[in-house]
Amino acid sequence: MASDRAEPHSLALDSIVVSAGRPHGPGDPVNQPIVPTSIYQPGGPFAYAREHNPTWSALEEALGVMEDAHCTAFASGIAAISAVLDLVAPGSVVVAPEHPYSGTGARLAELEAAGTLTVRRVSGADTGALAEAAQGAALVWVESPTNPLLEVTDIAEVARAAHAAGALVAVDNTFATVFAQNALDLGADISMQSATKYIGGHSDLLMGVTTCRSPELAERLRHRRTMLGATPGVLEAWLALRGLRTMALRVPRANASAHELACRLESHPAVERVMYPLLPSHPQHELAARQMRLGGAIVSFTVAGGADAAQAACDRVRLITQATSLGGVETTMERRARHALEHPATPASLIRMSVGIEAVDDLWADLDQAIRGSAG
Ligand SMILES: Cc1ncc(COP(=O)(O)O)c(C=O)c1O
Repeated sequence: MASDRAEPHSLALDSIVVSAGRPHGPGDPVNQPIVPTSIYQPGGPFAYAREHNPTWSALEEALGVMEDAHCTAFASGIAAISAVLDLVAPGSVVVAPEHPYSGTGARLAELEAAGTLTVRRVSGADTGALAEAAQGAALVWVESPTNPLLEVTDIAEVARAAHAAGALVAVDNTFATVFAQNALDLGADISMQSATKYIGGHSDLLMGVTTCRSPELAERLRHRRTMLGATPGVLEAWLALRGLRTMALRVPRANASAHELACRLESHPAVERVMYPLLPSHPQHELAARQMRLGGAIVSFTVAGGADAAQAACDRVRLITQATSLGGVETTMERRARHALEHPATPASLIRMSVGIEAVDDLWADLDQAIRGSAG
């Protein structure tokens, strides 16, 4: 009965996010239902919900089609990261950016302190050094662009060097999303995203996902999920699927507004430095323009007057919300160094702004009054 449906792999991303992962048998609901169960009737492939849930499967199917890959959904982004780090044998070397997302940095430090892994930390902006450090490593962890400094790594180049050295390559693709960058096409073995951010898109859930082209690797990740108990909630999986349906509208809009705000911030008298991959002033602008179809919806910037002025600007916003995390339809910003886990390389006056889908002129008016007021 489903034979006259469009072949999902032949569609553009905009169509895939709308159409993939839906029931399509005769009389089926159009949307995947929420299936709250911990156990299954006998006779099927699954007995217990730590191994499987149909609501997760629908989300995994849709995300898998987007990247022509096998997707595994986890309870959070950090659960997905932990599952990937769990793949490498104790005693292995892992190469990672010097200042990745703070949670990744903290987890790597814990594993190192416990003697489980040796971590080689290399500047995320130095592709050559990352590639060199891959010699003898089991895993190269890439985050591009990085959180919150927006450093860009040449994923294809690192993947080539890492594969020649026999290392796996995993990319945290949370900031870019598949709309801006397909890490698997660039050569990564595993692409990971915090689905809490752009996939969910409404700041109302926690989830993480991995995608990979190797069925064996996907199976190992699923097994780690089962053993870690890092299973997503059913409501969260449903919300993430609901969020995914509008991703092709939300993400390009937020990316375009972020690019526009980054340009305006660059000429603001109270702003010292703006970090955004597609600005010509970004140190890896050429690489970013080559590797990314969009620049992402995160803009980081420092203001004159140090930590106090940055904090004052965050306290003054009225349309924008002062909050952590990112990727929602609402614009948020925060002074990153207020978090104890934040890497010391993050300047005390750095504000990370996650641009949403409000009118860009309203966002600019709010940002401008907040920054001007804080400097005075
Ligand atoms: C780049 C990046 N990766 C991973 C994570 C972790 O995701 P989660 O909060 O869903 O565990 C975050 C969270 O902020 C992030 O920014």
